[in-house]
Amino acid sequence: MRIVLLGFPGSGKGTQAKMMAEKYRVPQISTGDILRAAVADKTEIGKKVAAVMAAGKLVSDDIVIDAVTDRLRGTESRRGFVLDGFPRTVAQADGLAVLLAQRSQRLDAVLSLEVTDEELVDRISGRRVCETCNHVTHVRKVGSALECPDCEGKLVQRSDDEIATVRNRLAVYREKTQPLQEYYAKDTVGLTAVDGMGFIDEIQERLLVALRDLGVN
Ligand code: AP5
Repeated sequence: MRIVLLGFPGSGKGTQAKMMAEKYRVPQISTGDILRAAVADKTEIGKKVAAVMAAGKLVSDDIVIDAVTDRLRGTESRRGFVLDGFPRTVAQADGLAVLLAQRSQRLDAVLSLEVTDEELVDRISGRRVCETCNHVTHVRKVGSALECPDCEGKLVQRSDDEIATVRNRLAVYREKTQPLQEYYAKDTVGLTAVDGMGFIDEIQERLLVALRDLGVN
């Protein structure tokens, strides 16, 4: 199964993509995670993209497409994947189409998580991430605890989750990524909007029902 999960920053893509990937035993490919790892490891790419990410802007299409190409080349993606945070521009969507055509593959579904602006800001401002294992949680769940519930590493706020940067990320999404809704709606794969409000488990169930309705198992 080859799935794209679209949604505004903070809509829950990472949370839901991880659950879907585990259920269907395919990799979750998050370009945000790949880029953050490059920044943390101070690789050449990491050094190039650090300032762009910190400002809440988009990394250049060629860097991101190369990163995804690399991941799709791996044997783990042979059975499929859940793409989280990619594509983010029309150029990236075109790049993905070329990549899949070269493999005689096609997307099975493009799902879009729909969440109100108020909820996005609340989710992002309360997000905490483990520095050690990347576990993502929320202050609603862990309160003021500074210890990761999974590995006891340190929980921190993502540097691009500060309010000024968040506003920029939302504006960038509206300008560059929202056009993908129309792009995929016009494509044979279509676009399936899924209500992203409510409890994490009920949203996961809605996504699985949407996939079943599309005949994707
Ligand atoms: P990326 O990491 O992709 O960030 P994003 O798209 O802005 O999305 P987020 O990670 O902020 O949110 P999410 O939707 O995954 O929500 P989450 O599940 O964490 O990208 C970061 C940066 O990298 C970009 O700004 C850009 O610079 C660069 N980049 C990445 N991809 C790129 C690309 N393709 N092209 C160019 N540049 C790229 O949930 C958020 C919080 O809410 C968490 O705390 C979670 O616990 C909580 N939560 C989740 N669901 C619920 C729920 N149902 N109820 C209550 N809380 C919930």
